[in-house]
Amino acid sequence: IWFLLGRRRRREGEPPLENGFLPYLGCALQFGANPLEFLREKQKKHGHIFTCRVAGKYIHFLTDPFSYHALIRQGKHLDWKKFHFATSAKAFGHGSIDPAEGNTTENFHQTFIRTLQGNALDALIKAMMENLQYVMLQSRKSKLQSNAWVTEGLYKFCCQVMFESGFLTLFGKEFNSNHDKNLSSKQETERAHILNALENFKEFDRIFPALVAGLPIHLFKSAHSAREKLGEALLHKNLLKRDNLSELVTLRMFLNDTLSTFDDMEKAKTHVAVLWASQANTIPATFWSLFYLLKSPEAMRAATKEVQRTLESAGEKISLDGKHISLNRKQLDNMPVLDSIIKEAMRLSSASMTFRVAKEDFTLHLENDFYNIRSDDIVALYPQLLHFDPEIYADPLTFKYDRFLSENGEEKTDFYRNGRKLKYYYMPFGTGIAKCPGRLFAVHEIKQFLALIFSYFEIELVDNNVQCPSLDQSRAGLGILQPTNDIDFRYRLKCL
Ligand code: HEM
Repeated sequence: IWFLLGRRRRREGEPPLENGFLPYLGCALQFGANPLEFLREKQKKHGHIFTCRVAGKYIHFLTDPFSYHALIRQGKHLDWKKFHFATSAKAFGHGSIDPAEGNTTENFHQTFIRTLQGNALDALIKAMMENLQYVMLQSRKSKLQSNAWVTEGLYKFCCQVMFESGFLTLFGKEFNSNHDKNLSSKQETERAHILNALENFKEFDRIFPALVAGLPIHLFKSAHSAREKLGEALLHKNLLKRDNLSELVTLRMFLNDTLSTFDDMEKAKTHVAVLWASQANTIPATFWSLFYLLKSPEAMRAATKEVQRTLESAGEKISLDGKHISLNRKQLDNMPVLDSIIKEAMRLSSASMTFRVAKEDFTLHLENDFYNIRSDDIVALYPQLLHFDPEIYADPLTFKYDRFLSENGEEKTDFYRNGRKLKYYYMPFGTGIAKCPGRLFAVHEIKQFLALIFSYFEIELVDNNVQCPSLDQSRAGLGILQPTNDIDFRYRLKCL
């Protein structure tokens, strides 16, 4: 009967099993409705490891942070690539990027590390600093001229500013655009192209969770067409017309052309994947960082003070005559208050999930016990359990801007559970081999955004008592959650 129902029976030595009630779906609906609540309930019932049947797959959840390293230590039995490669191909529509399948011999992971970290990061930071100021000031000139307050949705603002600046930083500018002059018609056309790409990005991003869950893109007509249009904009022949392409995109174009058998549109879709990875989490993380800051006068005071100190020690002056502020990587790295604010905002909004697939039957050794895992089963971590654990983070649902600051004002790294120091206490970027390669750039760009906002603008919420928006759970497992509704704010140029 178990076999006929498509369910498995727990064997000796395996973790406790939750088959769920529904055929095939198993626990999928309960998990999808509120993953945190579901996992907490099962943790209470079964303890630190249990297995759930979700949409035909068996997922073993490890919920004890002291066991997280087991996933990394026993990497030889676990595959991190297959799932990522298959998801990317399904969602973005390129052929398989698994070298084992013969379309390409590029090692994507290495390309990302090489072009998003080390020396390459300095150039990204420099370009982002210029692009953010261009987008915030020059391209909004008409709105900002009268010195009157501009009222907008905060999410919409973060989305536009980060998308436009991030796009210019990775994919460069159309030839001959000159940011120092007044907006030429060329620049206006370029801006219209990028804002159009943003509309396509949003349309596609909306259905991203459905694609990851396995639904075919053909079910979503307008999102499908949005993805194709993004692909067209990023065809190599169009990218070649652009100036100041990042090292990441230049190298990826070269490797597409030399190591792959992809056709032009498939090559373009690998760039769509990079565009999505660079924006989908950064935008909501920027929103939450700024929103919590605006809600907390204490955080705002500390952040403004730190920005002022940094500008002073860098010898930078704020002016509105077109001379941009520049802060380099080292100066940005010495801003522990903004670091703590960004970390705290992401702790509260992140719901990433780490997956590994068992390559064969094997025994998973945890701290004090061990369990048998079957081939093709998934072993998963859901770090929101950690981020919202009241033993690790007292009063876990409250934003405390200095939570990640030590007593002497430096980065705090000692967090405890059951009196034991934790190695893993903060994981919005995943962990182990597949950890986000863009994490350093992501934190720098949010920090740059905040530093510039506080340098150039007076900014406040329209309603200081506005409720914190809830987290949109439809993206749980995929990264930083978006707010369910936007919040009005206003800003105007400072009188300098
Ligand atoms: C992968 C989070 C920003 C590029 C990932 C993963 C997470 C993540 C959780 C998957 C890791 C895993 O599977 O274990 C975030 C967050 C960001 C952010 C929270 C912002 C707040 C960025 C940026 C870039 C980027 C700005 C690039 C410019 C990538 C790439 C991958 C990735 C290329 C795939 C890596 C691979 O498969 O080798 N990110 N990310 N991310 N991220 Fe990010």
